[in-house]
Amino acid sequence: MATGNFDWDAGEYDAVARVQERWGRELIARIEWSGEESVLDAGCGSGQLLPYLAEKIPHGRLTCLDRDGGMIEAARQRIRALKLAIPVDAVLGDIAALEMTPLRPASFDLVFSNAALHWVPDKLRAFAGFSRLLKPGGRVVAQYGGEKNIQRIRAALYRVLRELGAAAAQERWSFQSVEQTKEQLKTCGFRDVRVWENEAPATFPDRAAFARFCTVVFLRSYQSQLPPPQWEALQARFPDVARELLGGWRVDYVRQNLEARR
Ligand code: BEZ
Repeated sequence: MATGNFDWDAGEYDAVARVQERWGRELIARIEWSGEESVLDAGCGSGQLLPYLAEKIPHGRLTCLDRDGGMIEAARQRIRALKLAIPVDAVLGDIAALEMTPLRPASFDLVFSNAALHWVPDKLRAFAGFSRLLKPGGRVVAQYGGEKNIQRIRAALYRVLRELGAAAAQERWSFQSVEQTKEQLKTCGFRDVRVWENEAPATFPDRAAFARFCTVVFLRSYQSQLPPPQWEALQARFPDVARELLGGWRVDYVRQNLEARR
């Protein structure tokens, strides 16, 4: 769930990322399990989904991977606390450079990825990495931000960044079309490719809950690009501008879903 070129706050992410956890659990429920799979959770974040994945593979093994050191440490703590009955490892490594990780080629039955691939600009390279790690016949199942994801959230961000004189700040996420994803998966040797999108708006009960969520999930990737006064002003101003453009304490999520076989 976490990647991108900045440090995440694993504790805060765990506290607010309920919607990402729900999507992950829905994704797990959609998969047909034999119970013996060797699974890679690519972009595992703090390991929120680890117990739900482990439950599905009583005779399998689970490897969690994330490029953020704080997230991997949180996942390791969770692994220790849960005392799971199957082998579980947490590996520091980047979905965008899987060939640089110690993971063995052709060693996984399933690559699972929840709310992470939008942090990877070069998705073709990520898919090539998945293909290399999967056994023949192995599957990839993922969901992440789709082509028209968070359009109004982004419009609010651009407006506030412009107001603050920080329009040059760069967004760290990248979204692409269903067609592009299909082509890339086929280029990487996948078959039975299915890619589709669905709207998945999220709503929040009040300004405080919305502001906290947006700071952790969207704004934090701008922190290292802004001097402290602009960073403070972004957090203070963004929720109200977003509310105006979205008509409520809402996030206009659009999910891209993919399933394919090696
Ligand atoms: C997403 O889950 O769609 C997302 C999360 C953070 C930044 C951008 C997109």
